[in-house]
This record gives sequence, C-alpha cells and structure tokens, in this order.
Amino acid sequence: MNAVFPGSFDPITSGHMDVLTRAAKIFDHVTVTVMHNARKQGRHLFTLDERLDILREATAHFGNVGVDSFGGLLVDYMARTPGSVIVRGLRAVSDYEYELQIAHLNRQIGNAETVFIMAATRWSFVSSSMVREIASYGGDVSEMVPRASAGALRRKHEDVYRERETQAAVLNAESR
Ligand code: PNS
Repeated sequence: MNAVFPGSFDPITSGHMDVLTRAAKIFDHVTVTVMHNARKQGRHLFTLDERLDILREATAHFGNVGVDSFGGLLVDYMARTPGSVIVRGLRAVSDYEYELQIAHLNRQIGNAETVFIMAATRWSFVSSSMVREIASYGGDVSEMVPRASAGALRRKHEDVYRERETQAAVLNAESR
C-alpha cells in the first residue's frame, strides 16, 4: 500500500523525519507532498522550490520515498492514486482535535482515509514555526531539523548567525 505524507514543510523538522521514517517502514511507498495550508498563507519562510529542494536532500537516503507538490485539495491529489492513504503525524494530544476534524472532512468530501503516526516523544515540542523563530535569531536548531533544513535556515539567516558567532567569540576571548 502507498501513502501520501502532506504538509507545509516550512521546513521539514526532525519530527516530520521521524514520522516519515516510521511510515516508510510500514508502506511500500511514501510521497511527501508540499501543499498549501490556508491558515499559513503568506507566512512561509521558504519558497515552494526551496522546500522541495530541502525535502529532496533530506529524503534522498530512503529507497521508497518520493517528493511532490500540489496546489489544490488534498482529496483531489489522493484521487490520482486510488487506494493510497494519507499519513499525518501526531506530536501530542493537542494535535489530535484539529487532525481528527481534517481527517473526517477528507473522508467526507473525498473518501480519503487517514493514518496517524505518533512521533517520538522527544519531538513533541518541535514545530516548523518554532524552528523558524529560533533560527531567525541565529539560535541552534541542528537537533530539531535534518541537515538539509539546518543548512537552508543558516543560508536564509546568514548575517544573524555570523553576528551571533562573532559575539560568542568575543565573549569567549574576554572570559579567558
Ligand atoms: O503541515 P501542515 O501545515 O499542518 O499541513 C496541512 C495541509 C497542507 C496538509 C492541509 O492544510 C491541506 O491538506 N491543505 C490542502 C488543501 C486542503 O485539502 N484543504 C482541506 C483540508 S484542511
């Protein structure tokens, strides 16, 4: 059976990677599909092409994972591959209420089934939005995202990271 793992992936986090790794072991093939979230419209850090590049790099080691994008309804995308299921990750109970509503809606309007995969508890506090905020101040996000995302975040905020490292070097030298 094939699965689609849809999301904004702005950028993909270690929590997403954990869910994807679990899904890739369960399903024959998993397509990670970048889609629009109307609630996040206009608030993206990375362009669609950048997010796809990050995803391709972060998922290159999987033998059964592909990357795609789609600008319409998730159920219309699912209709292209009959028999496949939607995979969504759950970090905490707080995710469940929203995800349950969407899963019911997708079944109602497109007969699409959703399978929930629980991310490991160590990722329960990690979200793309938190990662973006920490990186915007030059903070260390290397544990929270795959290397591809960390590199892209660093390039996006190159000046901030360089300034922070300069300050840290000065403080280090002064404390000697
Ligand atoms: O990573 P996200 O932002 O939680 O992913 C949400 C996403 C993109 C999967 C969801 O917004 C979505 O399915 N968008 C496609 C449009 C759609 O089908 N909307 C109706 C269900 S919300």
